[in-house]
Amino acid sequence: MNHAERILIVDDVADNIQVAMNILQEDSYEFSFANNGSQALAILEQESSEFDLILLDVMMPGMDGYQVCRQLKTSAKWRDVPVVFLTARVDVESITKGFAAGGVDYICKPFHAEELLSRVKNHIQLYQAKLLLKQQNVTLENKAKWQKIRLLTELEENQKEMIYVLAELMEATSDETGKHIKRMAAASRLLATYYGSLNKEDAEIIFHAAPMHDIGKMTVPVEILHKPGKYTEQEFTLMKAHTTNAYKLLSGSKRKLIKAAAIIAHEHHEKWNGMGYPRGLKGTEIHIYGRIVALADVFDALTHARLYKDAWPVDEAVAYIVAQKGVQFDPALVNIFVEHLEEFVRITAAV
Ligand SMILES: [Fe+2]
Ligand SMILES: [Fe+2]
Repeated sequence: MNHAERILIVDDVADNIQVAMNILQEDSYEFSFANNGSQALAILEQESSEFDLILLDVMMPGMDGYQVCRQLKTSAKWRDVPVVFLTARVDVESITKGFAAGGVDYICKPFHAEELLSRVKNHIQLYQAKLLLKQQNVTLENKAKWQKIRLLTELEENQKEMIYVLAELMEATSDETGKHIKRMAAASRLLATYYGSLNKEDAEIIFHAAPMHDIGKMTVPVEILHKPGKYTEQEFTLMKAHTTNAYKLLSGSKRKLIKAAAIIAHEHHEKWNGMGYPRGLKGTEIHIYGRIVALADVFDALTHARLYKDAWPVDEAVAYIVAQKGVQFDPALVNIFVEHLEEFVRITAAV
């Protein structure tokens, strides 16, 4: 047994305190004592006070033991600490009142030394076992909470990774490459970050949804996708349908990320001047996600080689974007692009 346990003895008769202490000393407890109720409460109110058990006399001048006990039960710190009444009142009514006030035991004077020792020891052990159990419960709860968070994060990460796997799969069927997807997603996030009215969450959503911008190309025949020359009108119609097909596929979702992907897939070929496709939306009729991805997509496509074209030198690609300010692209986004050009060039040169 660990003998550092502390006991508070409250009795208006100093001799009674002495008797109890003499007996309990056998088990090497540490003691504090008080001669009345208010003194006891004053000791307990001290922040540093710590007790494992309180021995409480019932009949005292001023506050009686019941009142002291009831008050202790309203305090978060002392509510669970066992209170043992130690009194000469042996009538059933007094004993009942003691338990009703929140006492855990009632020892009648005169008592045998062995009785006091064992009861005190039992209650202290019980109290400490309860404390331990409570601590273990808290630890278990915390553990469960963390496991849940970890699992959610894991699921979320899996989903995001699946988006990239899916997008990279398109390499086989379209002119997009996994690297292009990663770079244009990063550039899209950068545009969103500097765009005044978007918050951090928007920027993250765009970053994870942008890779799906051309997912609809899976529905376009390979011979059209890889055709080096100009499209016939009919071929172009089929090609343009990659936007609406993806929208149909994704727009039913209730998930924020997939909903954003639906908008991006639908609107990344719209132009600021209304000459884009599929709907010929103009200016701010085009969702900001669509306007952002349009610029990021074109800049990265220009600066890298595709099956049917060589890579443009970066300064020529930049000049193209600037020339298309207010024509193909949102002027505000072109301004951001120019202002932070170094960062965009770093991204496009990254992989
Ligand atoms: Fe596209
Ligand atoms: Fe693209």
